[in-house]
Amino acid sequence: MGLFSFTQEIAIDLGTANTIIMHNGKMVVDEPSVVALDKRTDKLLAVGEKARQMHGKTHENIRTIRPLRDGVIADFYAAEQMIRGMVKMVSSKGRWFAPSLRMVVGIPSGSTEVEIRAVRDSSEHAGGRDVYMIYEPMAAAIGIGLDVEAPEGNMIVDIGGGSTEIAVISLGGIVSNNSIRIAGDDLTADIQEYMRRQHNVKVGERTAELIKINVGSALTELADPPEDYIVHGPNQMTALPMEVPVSYQEISHCIEKSISKIEAAVLSALEQTPPELYADVVRNGIYLAGGGALLRGLDKRLTDKIGIPFHIAEDPLHAVAKGTGVALKNIDKFSFLIR
Ligand SMILES: Nc1ncnc2c1ncn2[C@@H]1O[C@H](COP(=O)(O)OP(=O)(O)OP(=O)(O)O)[C@@H](O)[C@H]1O
Ligand SMILES: [Mg+2]
Repeated sequence: MGLFSFTQEIAIDLGTANTIIMHNGKMVVDEPSVVALDKRTDKLLAVGEKARQMHGKTHENIRTIRPLRDGVIADFYAAEQMIRGMVKMVSSKGRWFAPSLRMVVGIPSGSTEVEIRAVRDSSEHAGGRDVYMIYEPMAAAIGIGLDVEAPEGNMIVDIGGGSTEIAVISLGGIVSNNSIRIAGDDLTADIQEYMRRQHNVKVGERTAELIKINVGSALTELADPPEDYIVHGPNQMTALPMEVPVSYQEISHCIEKSISKIEAAVLSALEQTPPELYADVVRNGIYLAGGGALLRGLDKRLTDKIGIPFHIAEDPLHAVAKGTGVALKNIDKFSFLIR
């Protein structure tokens, strides 16, 4: 083990918002998907939480980048630096240097050949020798603990930062899938725009995300409403400091359009589901994963609207990562991994 083993194995959930690495069945990295680079040399200055703290606060020689957009790699160099930096966090903790690094990496189910290649290339450039990929909804289903190889339909809705992926899984394969580029980041952008337009206050991405987490809601009426969230920021006109209380009801209105699009995507995925599997889905319910699953009232809204029970995965932010970790241990058994 450790120092003497030749091959090290890690599994990665490379997300638009968060990147998680599993090693020996444990979550060893869980960091925001951000890097900070030196503008002049392109040298990596910081990765993960450290880089996020610099986000929006940099001077002219530093730039912070989120390498993924809409669930896929948008900046190849930054993605490679990010994977490299995060793998280093694991290897320095475990004091290993792996001459051979085996990886399982999650990819969106709607990935094109080019996008798959981008993930493979960045993983290889970051040190991966033996790279396997798994579709993220499949990983989420495994992470939730579903038997993906059974002749039984299960539907997963994974609402991440950049994309919402909906898939029906049966017999170890994805039977149908639907993926849209509306997810958590869009809700955050809706809130940013709303605060500017309605309250005349400028808020950054991080503050808008905190508003979403504290008073975000998919329903205009909640049985257990959160207290108003107080936002501090500059008035757009006067630049003087303002204090604005924000209620869940106004946020539910401002994200309504985006939520409806997610709802419509779920309905269209159901429409495409073959009848036998549809019956299974109605019986088993639909599983919500990804950070977006935590939005207040979303499960109830979808359950009421669609008439099928929606279950929030036990640990929605980590379902995909856990599943990639299980896949790593079953590389020879799981025929659905992509080489
Ligand atoms: N309590 C919460 N309520 C609403 N949204 C939340 C909550 N917690 C996290 N989020 C949102 O979830 C998103 C991140 O989820 P997740 O980590 O699953 O995405 P990701 O896997 O990085 O992205 P993708 O799968 O699209 O590439 C962010 O937009 C974040 O703001
Ligand atoms: Mg994800």
